[in-house]
Amino acid sequence: MRAKVSLITGAAGEVGQALIRRLAQRESVKAPHASSQQLGEGQHHIVTLDLKPLPDELAQHVIQVEGSILDKPLLDRLVSEYEIEEVYHLAALLSTRAEFSPDAAHRVNVEGTMGLLHLAAQQSEWRGIPVRFIFPSSIAVFGLPDQPTKESYARVREWEWNYPSTMYGCNKLYCEMLGIYFSRHYRQLAADQPTSLDFRSVRFPGLVSAYTLPSGGTSDYGPEMLHAAAKDVSYHCFVREDVRIPFMAMPDAVKALVDLARAPHEALSRPVYNVTSFSLSAEEFRNHVRHHFPDAHIDFVPDLKRQRIVDTWPADLDDSAARRDWGWSPDYNVQRAFADYLVPNIRGRYQNS
Ligand SMILES: NC(=O)c1ccc[n+]([C@@H]2O[C@H](COP(=O)([O-])OP(=O)(O)OC[C@H]3O[C@@H](n4cnc5c(N)ncnc54)[C@H](O)[C@@H]3O)[C@@H](O)[C@H]2O)c1
Repeated sequence: MRAKVSLITGAAGEVGQALIRRLAQRESVKAPHASSQQLGEGQHHIVTLDLKPLPDELAQHVIQVEGSILDKPLLDRLVSEYEIEEVYHLAALLSTRAEFSPDAAHRVNVEGTMGLLHLAAQQSEWRGIPVRFIFPSSIAVFGLPDQPTKESYARVREWEWNYPSTMYGCNKLYCEMLGIYFSRHYRQLAADQPTSLDFRSVRFPGLVSAYTLPSGGTSDYGPEMLHAAAKDVSYHCFVREDVRIPFMAMPDAVKALVDLARAPHEALSRPVYNVTSFSLSAEEFRNHVRHHFPDAHIDFVPDLKRQRIVDTWPADLDDSAARRDWGWSPDYNVQRAFADYLVPNIRGRYQNS
C-alpha cells in the first residue's frame, strides 16, 4: 500500500517554505527520513521536490526529494512510491529571470507544468478520484497597454486584459489554460472518459515575506525596500514613485492556496481566481517602510525596462469571485501586514543574524 501524500514542487522557494510551515502546523507529520513503507496509513504526509535543499528546520516535517520537475524518471519514481492526492505546483522561474532566459523559463514553467499535469492526470485515473492540482498564477498574466487604460481599469477582473508582455506572464496564462484543458477536456475523444484532475489556480499579486528574500521577480522592489531598511542599508527602487500594483503578505498567500485547495468543488464557479490584499504605489510602500524605519534610505532610480513591465500590470485586482465562492478574505490589510507580521519578524531576523 503506497502512502498518501501531498506533493509540493518548488518547496524551497519563498511560498513553498511558508506553505510547509502552514501545512506542518495543521497536518500530522511523519518521522524524518521514513521510507514510504514506514509511513502510517491514515496520516497525511508531504513530499517536496526542489532543486535546492530546504532549511533543516523545515526538512524535518517532510519527505524531501532534491531534483528537477523536468526529470521524468524521478517523477515516475515518485508515482510508484506514493499515492499523490494533491499537488501544490510552485516551482517556476519568476518574471525577471524568465525575461533573461526565456528558453529555460519555457522549459521549467511550461514543460515542467505539463509533466506534473500528466502525473496528476495519471494518478486521478488510477485512483478514480480527482487529484487536486493547485497552481499559483500571477498578475503577470495581465497586460494593460498604457497608463490611461491602467487608470481606468483600476480593479481588473479575471478575464480582462489577458495580454501578457513577459515570457513569465505568457507561461502562466498558458499553464492556466493547460490546467483547464486537463481538468475538463483531457482525452475527450477517448471511448471511456477517465477521471480527470481538479485544477485550481490563484493569481497572486506581489508577495511580501518577512522570512525569505525574493529573487527574480519584478514586484521585488517592495520587499527589497523593507529588508534593506531593516538591515540599515540604502536602497535604490527600480520603479517610479507613482507605480501602483497590488501586494499581499505571505501568510495570506499561503492561506489562499490552502483555502482554495480545501474548498468544496461544487462551490467553485471558475478554475482561476484573482486574490489580493492591498494596493500601494511605490511611494506609499516607502512611506509605510519609513513609518517603521524612519532612517531608511530609499530613493527611486527607475530601470526603464523593468518599469515598463510593472506598468502593464493592474493597479489592483477584483477578487470578488474568490470572496463569494470560497470565502476568500485576507487576514492582513496594509497596516496589519506591516505592524504585526512584516516589521517585527524582519527586525527579529536581522537582529539575530
Ligand atoms: N513571489 C511572488 O511575488 C509571486 C507572485 C505571483 C506568483 N508567484 C508564483 O508562486 C510560485 C512560488 O513562487 P516563489 O516566490 O516561492 O518563487 P521562488 O523563486 O522563491 O521559488 C521557486 C522554487 O522553484 C524551484 N525550482 C525552479 N526550477 C525548478 C525545477 N526545474 N525543478 C524543481 N524546482 C525548481 C527553485 O529552486 C525555487 O526554490 C511560483 O509559481 C510563482 O510563479 C509568486
